[in-house]
Amino acid sequence: MINTFADYKKAYRRSVEEPEAFWDEIAETFTWRKKWDKTLEWDFHEPQVKWFQGGKLNITENCLDRHLEKQGNKTAIIWEPNDPDEESRHITYRQLFVKVCRFANVLRQNGIKKGDRVCIYMPMIPELAIAMLACARIGAVHSIVFAGFSSQAIAKRINDSQCKMLITANEVYRGTKRVNLKAICDEALKDTPSIETVLVYRRTVEPTEMQEGRDKFWFEELQKATDDCQAEEMDAEDMLFILYTSGSTGTPKGMVHTTGGYMVGTAYTFENVFQIEKDDVYWCTADIGWITGHSYIIYGPLAAGATTVMFEGIPSYPDYGRFWEICEKLKVTHFYTAPTAIRALARQPIEFVEKHDLSSLKVLGSVGEPINEEAWHWYNDNIGKGNCPIVDTWWQTETGAIMISPLAGITSARPTFASLPLPGVQPTIMDDQGRELNGRRESAEGRLAFKFPWPAMARTIYNNHERYKDVYFSTFPGMYFSGDGAYRDATGNYRITGRVDDVVIVSGHNLGTATVENAINEHEKVVESAVVGVPHDVKGNALYAFVILYDHVEPSEALEKEIREIVSTTIGPIAKPDKVQFVNGLPKTRSGKIMRRILRKIITNDIENIGDTSTLLNPEIIEDIAQGVK
Ligand code: PRX
Repeated sequence: MINTFADYKKAYRRSVEEPEAFWDEIAETFTWRKKWDKTLEWDFHEPQVKWFQGGKLNITENCLDRHLEKQGNKTAIIWEPNDPDEESRHITYRQLFVKVCRFANVLRQNGIKKGDRVCIYMPMIPELAIAMLACARIGAVHSIVFAGFSSQAIAKRINDSQCKMLITANEVYRGTKRVNLKAICDEALKDTPSIETVLVYRRTVEPTEMQEGRDKFWFEELQKATDDCQAEEMDAEDMLFILYTSGSTGTPKGMVHTTGGYMVGTAYTFENVFQIEKDDVYWCTADIGWITGHSYIIYGPLAAGATTVMFEGIPSYPDYGRFWEICEKLKVTHFYTAPTAIRALARQPIEFVEKHDLSSLKVLGSVGEPINEEAWHWYNDNIGKGNCPIVDTWWQTETGAIMISPLAGITSARPTFASLPLPGVQPTIMDDQGRELNGRRESAEGRLAFKFPWPAMARTIYNNHERYKDVYFSTFPGMYFSGDGAYRDATGNYRITGRVDDVVIVSGHNLGTATVENAINEHEKVVESAVVGVPHDVKGNALYAFVILYDHVEPSEALEKEIREIVSTTIGPIAKPDKVQFVNGLPKTRSGKIMRRILRKIITNDIENIGDTSTLLNPEIIEDIAQGVK
């Protein structure tokens, strides 16, 4: 582990000068059934990246089996339920190992084999972790869909990767609400012919509708299974999971992560960024349905043998002190959350924080969007009490692991700066003409790209390698383009300035404007729409939809509601626009492209800075739209 700033400098230099030797040494600390023959083969033009080729392993042997001898009785997962009166569950490494093996046998009994895709749509309960690890144990590819997505969104993802099985729960608790997940799945299942079996975990005692022959209860299946499960031998480059993320077209991208590099990358970054020690209690508040949960609730922490907390509930239930109550109760040492949560909690009376003892905390983390200065200071002063380094971690679903971040207490943490690249990461800033801004000791602002592969990067988009190439490797040939803008100061520290493409981060969720527009355009009274992100105090960004209706249709509040509803049912409640404005036209280029940049300027009342509008097909529409801005 890196212990000092000098260590960091040394590791960084080595990772650039001798990347293969650098990663070999780290990879050697894991359990492989057979060592790799070749550390790295890559070509960012194809693009093609292979790490640890010829290496054989199973990631669960690294996350579970190898810890049994020395720390089988250590807690692997602490689960905190939605209802504070329900008991927490503490699951040791040995118990988790047994549960995973047993459930892996359930999967095998139900015909799942290496390479099969399994969709998981579950709440934040330990069984979600067990299901994903069980897939990994037998070499099945998990595709976890966040349990807030709609039936249509589930169906789309299942069909894209032709999943054979769906694992879900009957219901989920969210604060005072109960949501029937199985009913949402049933709706999706009307349109997913590849699914042969549905396994249902009973989270509540409510009766659950089951379809004979297809649906089976988790517990009943477990009774037929033994605990003994040989892990499947995987190639380092075998697929571990698919995780869908939004893009700038309507279809989500199934990012493919493979086994060896992902394991090495997540564990290495986890240990070094958070500076984890033996008895630490680490809590990441993300949902496992997103990459943060995959990499930093499950795979990274378990590969590192740490204790990881999983929370089922929401930050506001039973009151806005819930996060801090849990930190006190479980003596959390590392707390990793999103700026949107920090901003929402910072608006509440400070008593919610003050009534809890937060003295166990050592390190705080932030992820998902740029953290603004005010939120950073609130977090630092009130939660960290000025004593906990904050790691502002920049990364993406596509990068698999943290790329740019302070190392807690070792490299400096300055508000709004994700700071320095981790060892093995070679960022650069590009200008609009595709030139690299690499002046030494000079600041630069432009687009964030990467010049060299890192082990945890996604290898492709499932069944669509062309799109992978097009989205990430064509803007700056020979480099990976992140889609983000960034500023680098004269000392080499990076600040992320936000997305430069048609993706908007709402409450830390990555949403494609095209996906939301497609949903709105499904409404029979809508001709066309344009969705943009606008700054929002808590959510970071909110969605604002401009909608053109057919000539004979009268705009109304009811229609506005219907439009928001259609987004909710097509994608999920997280994608509902905050505002819907009916317009007569949209600013377009002569080639018909909607100028979302101009729409953003109109909403933020920045018309003076719109720039040259003479290239527009319909410049007069700007004034018209501005009149109606809410
Ligand atoms: O725009 C960046 C923002 O989130 C995007 C990636 O979203 P997603 O794939 O959903 O993964 C989120 C969790 C890793 C990035 O392109 N982002 C993420 N972390 C930060 C950030 N922006 C600024 N600062 C961060 N620390």
